[in-house]
Amino acid sequence: PVEGPLSGKHVLVTAGPTHEPIDPVRYIANRSSGKQGYAIAEAAARLGARVTLVSGPVSLPTPRGVDRVDVETARQMADAVKHSLPADCAVMVAAVADWRSKDVSKGKIKKRGSAPPVLMLTENPDILASVAAGGRKPKLLVGFAAETDHVLEHATEKRTRKGADWIVANDVSGDVMGGAVNRVAIITSTGVEHLPEMPKEAVAMAIMERIAQALETVE
Ligand code: C5P
Repeated sequence: PVEGPLSGKHVLVTAGPTHEPIDPVRYIANRSSGKQGYAIAEAAARLGARVTLVSGPVSLPTPRGVDRVDVETARQMADAVKHSLPADCAVMVAAVADWRSKDVSKGKIKKRGSAPPVLMLTENPDILASVAAGGRKPKLLVGFAAETDHVLEHATEKRTRKGADWIVANDVSGDVMGGAVNRVAIITSTGVEHLPEMPKEAVAMAIMERIAQALETVE
């Protein structure tokens, strides 16, 4: 392992979308390339942390020195996160699908000769909120909030509602999805820090450096 400010620390990262099956060939998902989450896992490893990356389906290579656990659905992600605790810090970057199909058809739903199916949806578990409420909450729990409008307002509300220590607010009204750059603000209990637009790798390193600093002071 690398020597660094996060040596001896365990950092848990979630990344990518989740896929919620409708039938064997169709699914519901959020848009997410996984790039920002993977960059965060990589930055944590570079700073010396032991890193567990719980990943939804993406086409990205595993960053060097990172333990990757692949999942497909939100419920699998929730289980994998639970099994990966305890951690000193968790950074939940995954774009988890809020809903899944209530019934999953065993066979492919046929198009011909029938009306379009009506999907009944049911709510998925909120992984961030349940880690916050659980008995093994990491010392520093960081969520992401992808918003298209009133970014800071919504992200600030999300921080308290979900019980996260920090929320990284992410304006996705532009070309962020799948793109190489990102512009974020870090919302803590004491205020907001705006970071300039940077490549996702640089955003990841800036966030992880602040996390390393904060872990030195929280007990
Ligand atoms: O509510 P929203 O999806 O915008 O919240 C975003 C934050 O909550 C992210 O950190 C995301 O990873 C996390 N989340 C989660 N489980 C869900 C939904 C969101 O962990 N079911």
